[in-house]
Amino acid sequence: MSTAYAPGKAILFGEHAVVYGRPAIAVPVGKVRACAVVSPSPGGTGIMLSAPDLKRTYPLSQAAPDDPLGAIVSNTLAHLGVTGHPDLTVTVTSTIPIARGMGSGTAISVSIVRALAAHFGATLSDAEVSALTFEVEKIYHGTPSGIDNTVVTYQKPVYFVKGQRVETLTVKTPFLLIVADTGIASPTHVAVGDVGRKWQCDREECEAVFDRIGAVARAARQAIELGQPAKLGPLMNDNQALLQSLGVSSPELDRLIEVALGAGAAGAKLSGAGRGGNMIALAPGTSASAVENSLVAAGAKGVIVNEVS
Ligand code: MEV
Repeated sequence: MSTAYAPGKAILFGEHAVVYGRPAIAVPVGKVRACAVVSPSPGGTGIMLSAPDLKRTYPLSQAAPDDPLGAIVSNTLAHLGVTGHPDLTVTVTSTIPIARGMGSGTAISVSIVRALAAHFGATLSDAEVSALTFEVEKIYHGTPSGIDNTVVTYQKPVYFVKGQRVETLTVKTPFLLIVADTGIASPTHVAVGDVGRKWQCDREECEAVFDRIGAVARAARQAIELGQPAKLGPLMNDNQALLQSLGVSSPELDRLIEVALGAGAAGAKLSGAGRGGNMIALAPGTSASAVENSLVAAGAKGVIVNEVS
């Protein structure tokens, strides 16, 4: 039996603009994770896919072409050179909230690739795992930038520019991030599609916003690498204002952001595709529990305190 895990993720800076070639920063969130287990099954069953959280078990042979579980299993087996239909069951479970911008589907893919590789005694590089996962990301949201599969695969903070070499970040001074869930599911492809339509209608304005978001991400990188987390709060607030202007925030996100700032957060913004999903807040010094408690009291559906290091 082979087991592999993959963490959730949060985008710190640069979501949406990253789809248009600007830099973005993402970090792993290890307190939630996906798990894939590959186990031999009784003879003749072929490959079974099992997602007990969703109460679904079905043969790979019956997976629809756009079924992400089926696609990642098939693509990985092809990549590993496994032919035929070995008798095995791939079981996936996850504590990462679904459709909240935390990379739930991405982490499931990464854990499956690694569990299958271990099962067949293969060693895959991070680049191979990330590339296999990226192909399936396209099923989830059409035009992914690649940042989600990169951060979830490398499990380190990353500075990401589409199509460029992966750069992991050294965090000179660790800082605390509070991640809070609005409880509203927001599929990535919907918000990404809406930004795409906005861009088509008004390219000049959108490109200018993306440029400003890119500048925020570059400044944040410097602050992270130089050990100046205090500088990140205002940059998060700037990024949030720019995301609002793209139309991807929501009243629920705005409210939790206001609550976090009121409780002492140094900065706060939506994280991921927006419209719902999660917001993140930077909690300096001893403010983490005050920010956490205020978000819980304000009705956040789940709050995670994550050290970025
Ligand atoms: C989703 O986590 C981040 C987006 O920028 C989409 C992408 O980069 O593919 C919204």
